[in-house]
Amino acid sequence: MARKIMIAGNWKMNGLSADGLELAKAIKAEVKLKKRNCEFVVCPPFTLLGTIKKALKGSRIVLGAQDCHFDEKGAHTGDISPLMLLDMGCTYVILGHSERRTDHGETDELVSKKAKAAHKAGLKTIICIGETLAQRESGETIDVCSKQILGSVPDDATAVDTVIAYEPVWAIGTGKTPTTQDVEEVHAAVRKVLAKKLGRAQANKMRILYGGSVKPSNAKELLSLPDVDGGLIGGASLKAGDFLAIADNAGC
Ligand code: PGA
Repeated sequence: MARKIMIAGNWKMNGLSADGLELAKAIKAEVKLKKRNCEFVVCPPFTLLGTIKKALKGSRIVLGAQDCHFDEKGAHTGDISPLMLLDMGCTYVILGHSERRTDHGETDELVSKKAKAAHKAGLKTIICIGETLAQRESGETIDVCSKQILGSVPDDATAVDTVIAYEPVWAIGTGKTPTTQDVEEVHAAVRKVLAKKLGRAQANKMRILYGGSVKPSNAKELLSLPDVDGGLIGGASLKAGDFLAIADNAGC
């Protein structure tokens, strides 16, 4: 089953107008240099979506946001709706990132509600899951990830509107990564749970990204495993050269 590799950059809360624009232009220029067969996504903070959208015009890099509300509009001070993201030119929205789950108490139920709303609006979602260090050390990784998949992914999700990102919490921004065997094991287990939830056809087509301290030097071993369909890149996506070197090393 051929699944198109995705290389997605999660800029998190980084970037002001000038440096964000510079980064987007550099990524666009680097992507143009070579014929590539992967899908590139950049997810800047809300404040830069308009600027980056303009900067990426004419390229094949698509835009994503890092969160959304589950309502279309209304009295939710400080929140952004899926329709607003669509209006800004977003194709994707990241949901359930561990930093949102930790900093904002987001639950699987809330993530699923947001995902349903995003799909209804016409956005595609990148739904994040992953275990903490304590959960890994107590052997709960597969159970935790399975439960997150079952709770966070809507029942009618498809391989067209949904991408999964497995990001062990302890690997995010730490420079630590699981072994390739561990990554393979979790991705295979996640695909099994997706098959149970959405049917084998959708599960076989759905992309499962790995995220957590991906850099050019480990991209090849982590992103070319059988059930790994690309990467969600944090820190290394803030340097155009590193972001593209990751794509190169992932084989696209
Ligand atoms: P990192 O972040 O690449 O900086 O570890 C990944 C993520 O949180 O999406």
